[in-house]
Amino acid sequence: MHTTLGAVLRAPGGPLSVEEITLPGLGPDDVRVRMAATGVCHSDLSLADGTLAHAVPVVLGHEGAGHVAEVGGAVTDLSVGDAVLLNWNPPCRTCWHCVNGEPYLCANAAEASRRVWGTLADGTPVHPGLGVAAFSQETVVPAASCLVVPDDVPPAQAALLGCAVLTGVGAVRNAAGVRPGESVAVIGLGGVGLSVVQGARIAGASTIIAVDPAAEKEELARSMGATHFLAPGDDLSRRIRAIADGRGVDHAIECVGRAATIRAAWSATRRGGKATVVGFGAATDELSFNALEITHFARALQGSLYGSSDPAVEVPELLRLYREGELDLSALVTRTIGLHEVEEAFADMRSGRGARSLVLF
Ligand code: APR
Ligand code: ZN
Repeated sequence: MHTTLGAVLRAPGGPLSVEEITLPGLGPDDVRVRMAATGVCHSDLSLADGTLAHAVPVVLGHEGAGHVAEVGGAVTDLSVGDAVLLNWNPPCRTCWHCVNGEPYLCANAAEASRRVWGTLADGTPVHPGLGVAAFSQETVVPAASCLVVPDDVPPAQAALLGCAVLTGVGAVRNAAGVRPGESVAVIGLGGVGLSVVQGARIAGASTIIAVDPAAEKEELARSMGATHFLAPGDDLSRRIRAIADGRGVDHAIECVGRAATIRAAWSATRRGGKATVVGFGAATDELSFNALEITHFARALQGSLYGSSDPAVEVPELLRLYREGELDLSALVTRTIGLHEVEEAFADMRSGRGARSLVLF
């Protein structure tokens, strides 16, 4: 048994309070990780405010990296001291999706988030947010949730690979399949959307139209490869199509998670184009199309989860792009905070300030 300090959410909409938590002893396939850094993702905010459901009390945080502090008896591929980043969607490698090349849709990946992860001082059991619980000085996760990070990559940089970058760059590479010379609109420029912008640049897109209501995102987006910047508004799709020869973009990638922006992304693509939805919306937010436009425009509309990738394959590829100077991880971090300040990062997110806030331990 070990004690740690973690940011506990007792109920949706409630505050996060940093409390002492007792972690149980390791199961044979578990690993204890001492966290180095954890990014604050919009999904954490959606889980905290109840937009997305999760068992509570919970310690959120799912975009983290640190060092292995202890390994369970059956763990052979990790050693104490290894730098690792955490995968919140670890594939089981045996279910139908895993066996058929879709490990990001693993039927068993969510199991880790349902287990009891620790106990509060009053004996209340705590669940690990998305199976990871990275807003904690230490966490216990299945070994399958750990991806080894090479020594030359600082854990604070590696943390963002665990969600925003894998999700964003992966969506461009594996779901949209952007090719050199294509045009891409990116709606929503948080850590995920800015990663999509970088992914589109790396894929060789010639036009990258970045969209966000926060004017301060323009400079960030342009530094990462955007060629145009637009504020949203009623005629957003028309303005995007106007930049793309009046025809519409080859790809629109939605990184907000709302029906209105998904609809705008779809309407901004050319006939035969592709809209890819990366944002996680609420179950109550409905989207509609008329029957004629579906066929007339012959556009594709698809969702992309966790970069539509196998993290064990994609993360080494992202690390290669980082080493080659193609992928800028540090520019995504616009604020570093302590564990007590996660709610401030949520407030920044609500008002569209900055890109990623990173909790440093
Ligand atoms: N049009 C365009 N951008 C918008 C709009 C809008 N109508 N409304 C908000 N945004 C912008 C915000 O200003 C912010 O810059 O979307 C961005 C969202 O960024 P973050 O809150 O940092 O979210 P991020 O962590 O990048 O996640 C984006 O992907 O994985 C999912 O759950 C996650 O749905 C979320 C999305
Ligand atoms: Zn995330």
